[in-house]
Amino acid sequence: MVLYSLIPIVLWGAALYVGYRRLYLSPISHIPVPKLAAVTRLSVHLHLLPLQHIQSLGSSLIPSSYEAYYDLWLGGQYTFKIIALHKENGPIIRISLWEIHVADPDFYEVVYASSASGHRRDKYDWFTKGFGLDNAVFATPGHDLHRLRRSALAPYFSMTSVRRLQPLLEERVNKLLERSEGFRDSGEVLNTSCAYAAFTNDSDCVIIDTEAPDFDPSYRDASYFGSTAGNYLKAFSSGYGLICSAKTSTYPTFLLDHAPPNSKLQEVLAHIQSITSGHNDSHQDLSHPTIFHTILDCKLPDLEKRDSRLSDDAQVLTMAGTLTTAWVFEVTTFHLLSNPSILSALKAELSTAIPSPNDIGAVPLPILESLPYLYAVMKKGFRLTYGVSCRLARSDPDNTIPFTDEVTGKAYIIPPGTPINMTSVQIYHDESLFPDSWTFRPERWLDPSSKALEKYLVSFTAGSRQCLGINLAYCELYLGLSAI
Ligand code: HEM
Repeated sequence: MVLYSLIPIVLWGAALYVGYRRLYLSPISHIPVPKLAAVTRLSVHLHLLPLQHIQSLGSSLIPSSYEAYYDLWLGGQYTFKIIALHKENGPIIRISLWEIHVADPDFYEVVYASSASGHRRDKYDWFTKGFGLDNAVFATPGHDLHRLRRSALAPYFSMTSVRRLQPLLEERVNKLLERSEGFRDSGEVLNTSCAYAAFTNDSDCVIIDTEAPDFDPSYRDASYFGSTAGNYLKAFSSGYGLICSAKTSTYPTFLLDHAPPNSKLQEVLAHIQSITSGHNDSHQDLSHPTIFHTILDCKLPDLEKRDSRLSDDAQVLTMAGTLTTAWVFEVTTFHLLSNPSILSALKAELSTAIPSPNDIGAVPLPILESLPYLYAVMKKGFRLTYGVSCRLARSDPDNTIPFTDEVTGKAYIIPPGTPINMTSVQIYHDESLFPDSWTFRPERWLDPSSKALEKYLVSFTAGSRQCLGINLAYCELYLGLSAI
């Protein structure tokens, strides 16, 4: 009896000790923190849940309850809570047990350093695990393996390679135009969200050479699924694997209903297998090599060329470019239609470059790229769509990183391995950089002084982990926006 009555005391004592340790003995305990964020990341072991039969789930689910409250309970609000916490606590704060967040736009190039700077940058595996695509370039936490994997893909996404894809992308643009004209003629309302996502997904399929049916919304829905479920998946690492593996009703049906279309994933895998086995030589008839042929021909070790790894990369490549680019199209279209004077100025510039509608699609990319107003409109679109709107972490596995609070002069040392986050939403609404930051005003980018702002355009992040599809995204936007 006496022993039983001691249990609550022991449990409370243990909880207090863990809380004390997390708050005051952590290697980043010198960095300001909202107390709850630092003490509440719970570990829920999978074997406590009725899911043991699903092999591929990993060993534990790790929700951060402070973050989960804002992202799951209140719905995607942690980004804004972090911004508010900075206002109370200064430019560097702890946002969970192990991570810090920095609100100083000039620190961006330190956190997101390039390989050329000589600094290695790891990703935070708590974040990458949530996607269930551990073998993809995007989800490779370690700097060196990431570099190896990225080096195989990078030539395919160079400006020269992307320009070579122009004729194929133009076919997609023409499809988009034909469909849109159908809506115009019939007076039906066009859901631009579906139209643009179908276009961007279609365009991304060019690189892996799979056929996407016309305006198929399944990848848009899958990407929305990723955005909606992303917060759940981060809170419960291995969540994506769980969703993909779950065949039973063990998982909430609202998530399963929107899971990526398995048939599409199977189709991609079968496509890869046919190439690696040598049965698919369709590339010989193509004007460009597919991305898989490029990887298979390069000097990666055989282990890196296995089907399951290529499939992870293929999934990232089709998903990463679908909603991101489509969202820039959508938001830009909205602002152009809401601001007739901006739309007229853009049309005037385009009419000079493309005098006849018959020339649409025939204008070489370099000409479109030289149009200052079109570029300014796109930059505005990038800024007001944020790229990835949640925080993105990098850590330096080797060195400490110094940070100085410019206002107080206080210096901090960030220990090696600490995930350091920054958020594009915070930078893009920093009124000292972008006054009147919510307004769509491309003229801002025409002013010669705006050159200095370019480094704060962080939609694609920067450095060694910068978006690989940046040239392709720009190309789709130049061709698509000017045509529309
Ligand atoms: C407007 C369009 C796009 C935006 C704003 C965007 C944004 C981003 C961002 C912010 C990252 C870094 C994510 C992180 O740090 O975790 C990223 C990575 C990546 N993106 Fe994009 N992206 C866009 C289009 C595309 C396209 C069209 C593709 C390819 C088809 C693509 C492929 C990738 C890949 C493969 C990575 C991982 C790169 C690496 O880890 O080395 N993205 N993108």
